[in-house]
Amino acid sequence: MAELSNIKACVFDAYGTLFDVHAPTAKVADALGPAAQALSEMWRLKQLQYTWLRSLMGEYVAFWQVTGEALDYALAAHGIEDAALRKRLMDLYLTLDAYPDALDTLARLREAGFATAILSNGSPDMLDAAVGSSGLGAELDAVLSVEDVGIFKPDGRVYQLAVDRMGVARAEICFVSANAWDAAGAANFGFQVAHLNRFNQPPEGLPGRPKAILTTLAELPPLLA
Ligand code: 2OP
Repeated sequence: MAELSNIKACVFDAYGTLFDVHAPTAKVADALGPAAQALSEMWRLKQLQYTWLRSLMGEYVAFWQVTGEALDYALAAHGIEDAALRKRLMDLYLTLDAYPDALDTLARLREAGFATAILSNGSPDMLDAAVGSSGLGAELDAVLSVEDVGIFKPDGRVYQLAVDRMGVARAEICFVSANAWDAAGAANFGFQVAHLNRFNQPPEGLPGRPKAILTTLAELPPLLA
């Protein structure tokens, strides 16, 4: 059993970890046809690529703009030109479904005395919409956006934001992410990290090793007991 010790706060990545980024295309699969899954995967990959490249270029913009520009690329790559469909997909991205065990896990952690927070690339308006529509807000002490530091993950200034706002040492934070590169960045920064390996991917060749590997969020609370 993994050893996560002296934890005071549990900080969660949002997109892909608490919220299902592939839900929007699944909800319009009839309009997208067989390309739905490939479109969603390209949309997500482009969205992340643009965040990494914009950070390297020093060209931060809100994640909402990046999400739209990534969707435009993915739609064009699939030969889809449909403004109404684009709007529907972006609207659905604002109210992403939370994974089924997200609310219960957050509640169990708070009952056990841990502070809980989101730390995300998401713009504040995006996060407020998703947190509000999913009901997760009732079990979160803080929702932190990279907007406050003007650079995307895995830059250390993002993880430092959680240290500053939660008022605990970096080693007292358990950070949870389903994005392996984010888990690596957070571990390299000094958090105790649980990688939520939803799709059973192999380890990344990056600095920063998670202390725990989860397959569902529900597996986390017993590791902290
Ligand atoms: C998030 O920051 C990495 O997109 C992911 O929520």
